[in-house]
Amino acid sequence: MGDNIVLEAKELKKYYTRGSETVKALDGVDFAISQGEIVAIVGPSGSGKTTLMNLISCLDTPTSGVLNIGGADVTHFKESQLIAIRRKYIGFIFQQFYLIPNLFAVENVELPLIFAKKPINRDKILKVIETVGLKGKERIPAYMLSGGDKQRIAIARALINEPKLLIADEPTGKLEIKVRDQLLELFRQLSKKGISVFIATHDLELAAKAGRIIHLQDGKIIPKEQSSLYH
Ligand SMILES: Nc1ncnc2c1ncn2[C@@H]1O[C@H](COP(=O)(O)OP(=O)(O)OP(=O)(O)O)[C@@H](O)[C@H]1O
Ligand SMILES: [Mg+2]
Repeated sequence: MGDNIVLEAKELKKYYTRGSETVKALDGVDFAISQGEIVAIVGPSGSGKTTLMNLISCLDTPTSGVLNIGGADVTHFKESQLIAIRRKYIGFIFQQFYLIPNLFAVENVELPLIFAKKPINRDKILKVIETVGLKGKERIPAYMLSGGDKQRIAIARALINEPKLLIADEPTGKLEIKVRDQLLELFRQLSKKGISVFIATHDLELAAKAGRIIHLQDGKIIPKEQSSLYH
């Protein structure tokens, strides 16, 4: 792997069996993500986006192929090794955010540190909260925040372990255009700090503003020349 490549997939496949049928959810996918790149992954429902996100998040393992993260081939890693890779390299933003409603914003951000048994460093937490633009809202319970602010908390929480790769599944599902643009601006700031951002989305305007688009269909990447997204 080149020096600034954080993730590389080669002939990556994920097959599921459903009864007697084999579902080729991912059918030989090749790509690499460099440090600080913002990559959008688009494609119709069932094209394999979530499957791919789950693999690169180390939440699932491929049927075959190679997946290199931070210089290690994680394909045959045991669960304990996958957990270590997740903690070291990856921050996730789930579509539903999964905040704990009655905890303060700041307490939601601290959760991954508690899970990882890392010290609660106030300065670090406040810095992350500032990065996502939530300074002053630390002591508001999560349930009282707007959708956009909830998302910022989810991003702050994803950033607290200082990941190299930030992975977001459908981050703009329910957000207004203004919030989407703010989100994109935040992703750009993060990318300037060397964090790579990987976004699965149905929002083609968001995708168009990413540095690069990966277009999936039937578990395969459609080459740029053949993708309708560029015409
Ligand atoms: N656990 C599973 N068992 C069997 N088939 C599965 C499983 N998970 C996904 N699939 C199938 O794999 C294919 C890809 O699904 P995936 O969820 O990755 O698509 P997607 O692009 O994320 O779709 P959407 O846009 O609807 O979220 C689909 O045909 C789906 O039915
Ligand atoms: Mg999906």
